[in-house]
Amino acid sequence: MIPGTPPKISPSVLSADFSRLGEQINSIVAAGGEVLHLDVMDGHYVPNLTFGPLVVKAIRKMTDLELEAHLMISNPDKYLESFISAGADVVLVHPSTCESVADTLKAIKSLGSKAGLVVNPDEKLELVVPYLDQMDQLLIMSVFPGFGGQSFIPSVLNDLAQLRPLLEDNDVLVEIDGGINQQTIGSLNQIGIDRFVAGSAVFNASAPPGENYINLLALLNG
Ligand code: DX5
Ligand code: ZN
Repeated sequence: MIPGTPPKISPSVLSADFSRLGEQINSIVAAGGEVLHLDVMDGHYVPNLTFGPLVVKAIRKMTDLELEAHLMISNPDKYLESFISAGADVVLVHPSTCESVADTLKAIKSLGSKAGLVVNPDEKLELVVPYLDQMDQLLIMSVFPGFGGQSFIPSVLNDLAQLRPLLEDNDVLVEIDGGINQQTIGSLNQIGIDRFVAGSAVFNASAPPGENYINLLALLNG
């Protein structure tokens, strides 16, 4: 947790209605949103396909919100420049997809973006330790990457307390992704997570995204 900074919700557009994406993003902006989470999937690293730099560029034109690109793709090094020039402010990569994790993080930073590593539920959080001084962000997956709407896996937080001092020493922001919704978010507010990704809990048919966003934030702060 970065001291003095209230936790944020990062809506994932994965569950948005792409036929009216601009309107949905505006609803988040009007509700006070600060960041958007963009789930990039290649049908190879994960068994689902979403979008690439062209859509990131289109979203960049729609909004000034901070854009974090979560790259669930093989060989991310090949595409870093495309995503960053398209407007990604933060690039999050899975270590197992990088030939050299240190080189990938260095490349992201030298292209002018913030850099982060993503840890899957079946991986150890401690695998990021050698890279903490190169990282701005740690994304803890609380579902297996690939699809929205899955159930939260609580055990992914087991080793967070142990890693906490190192994360703080290195000013690494902690984010969690998957299964964050009205039922789960309230119990996660005291454990020092800076950012909560929420896809299907924000973009759904029950209310406009901005309204869902405000309700989630209230549960987080309540
Ligand atoms: C899953 C993605 C998530 C997803 C979360 O691979 O990384 O960002 O959008 O969706 P929900 O919030 O519906 O679990
Ligand atoms: Zn994600």
